[in-house]
Amino acid sequence: MDPGLVGRDAEIATILGFLSTASAGPAAVAITGDAGIGKTITWKHVIQAARRSFQVLSCQPTSAERPLAFSALDDLLGDVVDEVLPRVPEPARGAVEVALLRDVQMRTSPRSRFEAGHVWPERRVLARGILAVLRILARNASLLIAVDDAQWLDRPSAAVLEFCLRRLRCEPVSIVLTSRTSGRVPLGLDRALPPERFRRVLLGPLSPGAIGEILRSRLGTTLPRHTLTRLYEACGGNPFYALESAHALLEHPRVLRTNEPIPVPQGLSDLVRHRVRQLTPDIRQVGRLVAASSDPQERLIRAACGDQESWASIDQAVDAGLLERDGELLRFTHPLLRSVLYAEMTLEERRQVHQRLAARAGDVEERAWHLALGADRPSEKIAVMLDHAARHAASRGAPEAAAALKEQATRLTPASRPGSATERTVQAADYHFRAGDIARSGELIQSTLVACPAGPNRAPLLLRLATIHYHQSGWPLAEQMFRQAEQEAPDDPALCAHAEQELAFARLVAGDLPAASRLAKGSLRLAARAADPRLEANSLGRIALFEFLQGTGVRRDLLERAESLEALAGEEPAERLPMLDPSLVTGLILKWCDRLDEARLRLAGRYQRALDCGDEASLPFLLYHFSQLEWGGELGSRGGIRAGGLPRRGRKPPAPYAARHAVLPCLGPRPPRPGARGARTRQRGPSHVRKHWQCPARRTGGCGPRLRRAVPRRSPGHPLQPRSPR
Ligand SMILES: Nc1ncnc2c1ncn2[C@@H]1O[C@H](COP(=O)(O)OP(=O)(O)O)[C@@H](O)[C@H]1O
Ligand SMILES: [Mg+2]
Repeated sequence: MDPGLVGRDAEIATILGFLSTASAGPAAVAITGDAGIGKTITWKHVIQAARRSFQVLSCQPTSAERPLAFSALDDLLGDVVDEVLPRVPEPARGAVEVALLRDVQMRTSPRSRFEAGHVWPERRVLARGILAVLRILARNASLLIAVDDAQWLDRPSAAVLEFCLRRLRCEPVSIVLTSRTSGRVPLGLDRALPPERFRRVLLGPLSPGAIGEILRSRLGTTLPRHTLTRLYEACGGNPFYALESAHALLEHPRVLRTNEPIPVPQGLSDLVRHRVRQLTPDIRQVGRLVAASSDPQERLIRAACGDQESWASIDQAVDAGLLERDGELLRFTHPLLRSVLYAEMTLEERRQVHQRLAARAGDVEERAWHLALGADRPSEKIAVMLDHAARHAASRGAPEAAAALKEQATRLTPASRPGSATERTVQAADYHFRAGDIARSGELIQSTLVACPAGPNRAPLLLRLATIHYHQSGWPLAEQMFRQAEQEAPDDPALCAHAEQELAFARLVAGDLPAASRLAKGSLRLAARAADPRLEANSLGRIALFEFLQGTGVRRDLLERAESLEALAGEEPAERLPMLDPSLVTGLILKWCDRLDEARLRLAGRYQRALDCGDEASLPFLLYHFSQLEWGGELGSRGGIRAGGLPRRGRKPPAPYAARHAVLPCLGPRPPRPGARGARTRQRGPSHVRKHWQCPARRTGGCGPRLRRAVPRRSPGHPLQPRSPR
């Protein structure tokens, strides 16, 4: 089965639109683009869609078939020609029969027939015969001739098709072909047809999102965002390169951790390699420095070259088409050049290049990188510099860079300091977690767990593993692990408070609100014992949340106390961020109270903070609540209320939907239908809410107009997607 097509909607719509408007006469579309950009898959989807209105004749010649005369014509017409041949006049019919091996003797033994003095049909007679076949076919239905990789058409077939094309006048015969960007347009389409009947559609690079989607569907694995970003840069939006590089990357995961250029698969790199080998030593040296640098400022490269000649070498590299200037930056003209230049260096050459760059790099992270990659033995001094650089990266909201720097620090920690190595591994795991690479975080935690005996030292690791289980395998396993963590460090109130907060949330997910509430209160006592204001704030937030969900109303007192404690706590820990903090809890409660604008502001603040910190792990949770909020808000503004129950398929849900479906399942029975007995009592959540937050009277049924007044139209400055003013 053909793999699914990702994107290319605009190109396919353009092609189909053009073909449909041009169907009164011959028309042609050439789909062009680099190798691997997706010409074939797009072509296939075009012809699949075109089958609704065209009879499609298709062929996919290959370079190996090029010497086989008329093989493409046979592929195009082989299935349909027998039907129409009787209507083709002689001698053209005979010529077609011979060319397409319809002649019995040709079919059984073409060689013997030639030996017996037969020759290939006269080209013009054959072309007339094929033209007649096309005209007969086009009388029944519009014809679409589809050729993939038209550059590989065997010459005789191409000549016949070109002949036919020039003679078609008003017959509904169209052509869709693919070909490489370079070179002439196949079949002389641009000359054979007037400009309004020929369209060239150039396929450009795919977006990062599309490349991510293709990799996800083909490799069955989701690459972390920063890996995807690097891979995207390396493949320049070409899906074939991306797939090949991702395969190579999965075979060499080390590269991800050392931040080296993404490897280029052997087959792909040969061409580029050939080009690189032609470069003069000076140009190659400039290229290597640029390849090894993650921020190749021209000044830095000049300084790292270290001699007067560097100015000239950089200019030569630009003249040779290897590099281009982008302001202060030097960039390769194609991303593959970087990967190949880097891969071509021996280990020793790479070290020297990195050492040169380290000596000149001004940025703390860049310098630490180069020192790490230039090191030929463990060094605590460099590891400490890497620690510092990791903190720097985390503080600028780049936890993925922080994680990679920490991994380097671990690698360079001398064997005589096993404690430091473990500590750095756990910090790297935390950064990975925050950056959304939960799998890598889990691997690192598991690797340290193996060597750690049960007890208080192991408990923090179990706590982390439990959180990872929650993200990867679900709550039951996570719950078990949180309990185990608590059991292994019963005298550590901070750790136990943290575990109980998480257990409380797990109970909420399981629908056991009384237990959730109990655990949250327990965690508050432990947090107070630990004298940790942030932990206390988080426990208070949870208590307020669970009380609200149990119908006790909004505990503003708890929320306010939680927020002031949080303010007291100062800076957040760099490595791990608590997800369900008081500010988020307040946002959720506001949302459930239908105070959508205030909820949006709260959630937006939290969302922005997560973005600023690179806190990828929290984004899905926040986006989930955002989408619920927008769902309710959008509907509110349109007033399309259908009271009770789930919305019908294809319809939007009623505005208080989010509230009812978040709150009521925790309260017990299903929401009532309007007018049903007991409807009032089941409004418990919202009525408490009204009391405490003076929320407008929005009930589950019949409040469309009121809702329209109460909910402002979408705020102009939406945090997720700024809107243009109406
Ligand atoms: N838009 C796309 N959606 C999904 N897969 C794609 C897309 N574009 C290309 N691919 C995949 O990338 C690879 C190369 O695409 P292909 O169509 O063969 O490129 P081309 O014909 O331009 O050389 C194939 O595995 C193809 O399935
Ligand atoms: Mg192709």
